[in-house]
Amino acid sequence: MFRMLLYLIFGVIFLASGLSAQTCVPDAERVDCHPDPNASTERCLARGCLHCPPDVPDQNVPTCYFPKDYGYSMVGEPVDTGNGVRVELVRTTTSTLFGGDSMNLTLEADFQSDYRLRIKITDGTPRWEVPLQIDPPTGGNENRRYEVIFTNVPVFSFKILRRPTGTTIFDSSLGGFTFSDQFLQLAFKLPSRNVYGIGENEQHSFRHSFDKFPRWVLWARDAAPSGDVNLYGVQPHYTVLEEDGNAHAVAIVNSNAQEFVMHPNPGIVYRTIGGIFDMYFFLGPTPESVAQQYSEAVGRFPLPPYWSLGFQLCRFGYDHIDNMRAVVDRMIASEIPYDVQYGDIDIMDRRLDFTIDPINFAGLGAYVQELKTQGIRFMTILDPGISIGEPNGTYPPFELGQEMEVWITKQDDTPAQGRVWPPDDVYFADFSKNSTREWWKLLIKKFHDEELEFAALWIDMNEPANFVHGDINDGGCVTTSINDPPYLPRVRGDSLYSNTLCPDHKDSMGIHYNTHSLYGWSQSEPTFIANNEAVGTRSFALSRSTFLGSGRWITHWLGDNHSNWDNLLYSIIGMLQFNLFGIPFVGPDICGHNNNATAEMCGRWMQLGAFYPFSRNHNGYGHIDQDPAAFDGAIIEISKSALNTRYRLLPYLYTLLAMHYMNGNTVARALWHEFPQDPETRGIDRQFMWGYGLVISPVIDEGATNVTAYFPDARFYDYYTGGEVAVRKGYVELDAPFTHIPLHIRGGGVLPVQASAVNTDLARRNPLGLIAALDDRGEARGNFYYDAGDSLEPIASGTYFLADIAVNQPGVLTYVVRTNGYVEMNQQVMGNITVMGGVAVTSVTVNGSPHAEFSFSPVTNQLDIYELGLVANLNFTVEWV
Ligand code: NOJ
Repeated sequence: MFRMLLYLIFGVIFLASGLSAQTCVPDAERVDCHPDPNASTERCLARGCLHCPPDVPDQNVPTCYFPKDYGYSMVGEPVDTGNGVRVELVRTTTSTLFGGDSMNLTLEADFQSDYRLRIKITDGTPRWEVPLQIDPPTGGNENRRYEVIFTNVPVFSFKILRRPTGTTIFDSSLGGFTFSDQFLQLAFKLPSRNVYGIGENEQHSFRHSFDKFPRWVLWARDAAPSGDVNLYGVQPHYTVLEEDGNAHAVAIVNSNAQEFVMHPNPGIVYRTIGGIFDMYFFLGPTPESVAQQYSEAVGRFPLPPYWSLGFQLCRFGYDHIDNMRAVVDRMIASEIPYDVQYGDIDIMDRRLDFTIDPINFAGLGAYVQELKTQGIRFMTILDPGISIGEPNGTYPPFELGQEMEVWITKQDDTPAQGRVWPPDDVYFADFSKNSTREWWKLLIKKFHDEELEFAALWIDMNEPANFVHGDINDGGCVTTSINDPPYLPRVRGDSLYSNTLCPDHKDSMGIHYNTHSLYGWSQSEPTFIANNEAVGTRSFALSRSTFLGSGRWITHWLGDNHSNWDNLLYSIIGMLQFNLFGIPFVGPDICGHNNNATAEMCGRWMQLGAFYPFSRNHNGYGHIDQDPAAFDGAIIEISKSALNTRYRLLPYLYTLLAMHYMNGNTVARALWHEFPQDPETRGIDRQFMWGYGLVISPVIDEGATNVTAYFPDARFYDYYTGGEVAVRKGYVELDAPFTHIPLHIRGGGVLPVQASAVNTDLARRNPLGLIAALDDRGEARGNFYYDAGDSLEPIASGTYFLADIAVNQPGVLTYVVRTNGYVEMNQQVMGNITVMGGVAVTSVTVNGSPHAEFSFSPVTNQLDIYELGLVANLNFTVEWV
């Protein structure tokens, strides 16, 4: 009632303002003209905008919105540039939002290939542009899958159509187009509500919600994931599944503080406070080809070492080497598969980078070598803040840094000073500078060679995080329009320098106002290079902050999540998102970082965690132990069983990671990636797939012992029994008692496997196997990639093994070696083959000779062929009737 009254009053004011009620535009056509606080009718009208109550209350519908003729007009005709088209624009609106409007703009559409289009809008003045490396596409642009259409009615807008379907995949006629010094806005309609991506935030559904104009803010930030706050990385990238099952993705190359508002049209209102509009469209048309095309442009994640696919264990706060030893010992005693142990900042001397606590972690270097002999690799952490408070001559990282002038500086060119983990203040390394990259490399190499033989590195706090706001000596940041811009996207802490540096601080790329969210990105390449050189064998680096293209060098974990059930679901969403962002080797802190984990939740999380591409249990400071061996026997059993399944499937996971590097595919993917035509798959985020062939349906609810799982229109088989799922294109209640995670193999796929062991070094000595699951035609195919596991650049150097496996006709499986560059593949033995979904078998031949070791289950129709003893790098044929 009260609300009704308010609307009535609003209406009267609105009518009094001289506009007639007919000018109100429907809710789904409105673009907010007053996204900043303190909106009022007067301010709205002063901006040249319209004010009107919404059709439907309580939906966050803007009451102040742009008139349809707000913006720019095209001058003359579009000009053919040879590889695209250019249009010149002039501003036709006289009012302003935040001042500094650019009067003249140039839009260039660059037809980069049949599937890649770049749209760049600039104002002819030198403005910030992200120095992102975009690699060339393959092929020409004669058969473009898109068409760009411009209009001047009622004002300039442009559309991108998909050929040949005619679907409008992008249409900027939603209005409110603004290009001013510190406020740029492009609002566009989308062809469907199946929108995924945009990061990094904690999202509660993989498919975006459009209810109430959700606003996703991007500005690198050290914050525990919760709700819609901006988090560690900036990934202005979304993927749309069009209604007919075609897909496309868009990457907006902009590093300023920005936000995406999901608009119910459906569409997106994109706002940023600097730089230019630089957008890449990837036309697919399949979801997987979109991922391939995007990662081709920004770079692909290099194949990590085989051991890193094993289970990893970490916690902040072992505090003493004896506690770490105790955990390692109980892990080994429990026989839970386990490959990597971490030391967090508590192994450091007073949390100073490149040091080891001489008292609490005395002997760590020797211990790390001892662990290696047991098949356990050690990883450790580096932060970008370097302590400045150590006595002269005692802390080379600082002294060398001074000498080499490696720091982020203030406007007066003195180093910016902040506070992070060390007891004294810190300076922040400027990784965009060549001297810093050299300094970092020297330190990493020296630390590795003289102190601690880590196998890989973890870089943290690289947003960069700061425990104070701005510069500690300045008590913050001076008030300027750079530090406190006229429009502030809704960032956590209500300030651009909340828990970070001042926007006017400088690195060698420019001012932090522009480069802040590139900090972790700029640290990634030097860390990748330095780490690889130090370790000498294949390694990888893990980074908290990411930007577009970070996957070229590093991978990512999802940050300081919480030990609660909701976070299990969110972790699946985050994992799927980062696969779209070209960072497929990803996972959250299993069992949660903040708060205490309960046994049931941690058990279920270990079970789900066995199916993150990157599988690491990590705990925050002061919380009860949550390594799986810390719990009772049931948790140990559940962890062991799920991880043994993971380890058995590692050849398949490794093949998928190799395929990512070679072709850009996702590794963990949503069901809609494989079944884009099936509308039911589009909202599913409680189940996910590994590649083409494996569906994972974890328990993510407290107390649940079954899972309601969706199976699209294909044959699916229970991983454990080979029994075929009776339902197609429908939901099934699956039993999921505590020790069980439902897994299903999709008909049509062949998965390489290898018997599990307590670590990957040992597992790699076990017999290999194949699981061939037959489709409706009785066929199946797949690949098998393998290599030395830790050799450098195996793919570039061709020192790898790749086989094509196919059941192309009923009863005949062929294994054909395509690349035989890994010499020791001849030591590997193919021991068994499982065929799911066939008909009764009475005899088996291997390369033409009878083979007696097999069994066939008439209940599940699973054929198991044992003791094959085949040399894994030779072609073979197995037949059955
Ligand atoms: C913050 C990281 O997100 C967390 O994983 C780590 O344990 C702490 N820093 C301490 O290094």
